[in-house]
Amino acid sequence: MIVRTAVLERLAELAKLGAYERGIDRTLFSPAEHAARRKFADWARASGFALEQDRVGNVFARRDGAPTGRAPIVVGSHLDTVRTGGAYDGAYGVVGALCALERLGAEGATTRHPVEAVAWAGEEGSRFPLGCLGSGAYAGLNTLEAIEAIVGDDGISFPTARDGPSGLLPGVPVRDGFPRPAACLELHIEQGPSLERAGARLGVVSAIAGQVRSEIDVVGEAGHAGTVPLIVRHDAFAAAAEIALALETLARQLGECVVTVGYLVVEPNQTNIIPGRVVFRVDARSVDDTRVERLEAGLRDECSRMEIQRGVTCGIKLLERRAAVPMDGGLRAALHTALESLDNKLMPVPSGAGHDTMCVATVAPAAMIFVPSAGGRSHVGDEYTTPEDLELGVEALVRAIVAVDRLLAEKA
Ligand code: GLV
Ligand code: MN
Ligand code: MN
Repeated sequence: MIVRTAVLERLAELAKLGAYERGIDRTLFSPAEHAARRKFADWARASGFALEQDRVGNVFARRDGAPTGRAPIVVGSHLDTVRTGGAYDGAYGVVGALCALERLGAEGATTRHPVEAVAWAGEEGSRFPLGCLGSGAYAGLNTLEAIEAIVGDDGISFPTARDGPSGLLPGVPVRDGFPRPAACLELHIEQGPSLERAGARLGVVSAIAGQVRSEIDVVGEAGHAGTVPLIVRHDAFAAAAEIALALETLARQLGECVVTVGYLVVEPNQTNIIPGRVVFRVDARSVDDTRVERLEAGLRDECSRMEIQRGVTCGIKLLERRAAVPMDGGLRAALHTALESLDNKLMPVPSGAGHDTMCVATVAPAAMIFVPSAGGRSHVGDEYTTPEDLELGVEALVRAIVAVDRLLAEKA
């Protein structure tokens, strides 16, 4: 029997924060995102968990275990969204972690490790151009100094936003540094179609795709759209479009990888002026890092080709590189054993989406649980998972925490 938790009510509350006609816009240190972190803190406090935050905005709610001095098992996801996000990507894993801790409390369970429900800061990279900002800092992949040097797409620096009214939570102690956890778990919607197609309700993630994000600055020459002959133009947008299409063709040829141009700024962006400059971003991903490297090489080749053929210049700036991360074999096996009675179609599933766990997995054993996404849709306002599957996922997370706690204690 699945015990009902507060997961549905809480997700509905969070879904109001940042809601507008195209979905949910809750970027890091915006008023809506701050309100979501505050709700998480209020719920955790009301349940008796000790709260802490760190200097990048990660928030931790701690349930103590037996007094063994062990490092915590961190369990969570993110509360920020893309600018047209849905109600479940990230928020589900944060609320699910809190509900799981409450379930452990209600059952009087004594774990051998403390367990921390965590809201990782800025996973999406939608305001500051760095994904997994909080979990990356926690895992030591990005230094605090490097993060403090980042300026958001709105021109506001990270420290200004963090120290402003929508930044760190007032009244929550700030911890120094980034301690090592014993293990990391994350509950998430799949965001793809595999579980739904297989009729499965739970998946144990096998690996998280690696990704490279680059920004390309194409400088051409602006001019009159009616008078400059095509033969002498240096159209920055036409060059950018050729690069984007060539990369898509290359990704199709390589297979098992994807490439996306989802951000593009055209200057001066006027109907009757030839684009003089375009800044666009390329997001390339695969669970096979060599394919991402081939796409990067393709990007360099296409930029050079455009410089020669169209007389533009193309500057390439690396924004972010994350290698593909296999999930921990021992934890995956433990999760399969712990969860198989919940879903007879339980299956391993790779993640094409990035997750905070891909960062924390570089410093501790890590595993993820997926529940289905209707139509595989995500990063859109109408992403949907059934209430029954959301509750089942929390039950699975409770069992996963207990199984991982036992596994690690036996190994120690
Ligand atoms: C985050 O959801 C990402 O995969 O970019
Ligand atoms: Mn997510
Ligand atoms: Mn996302």
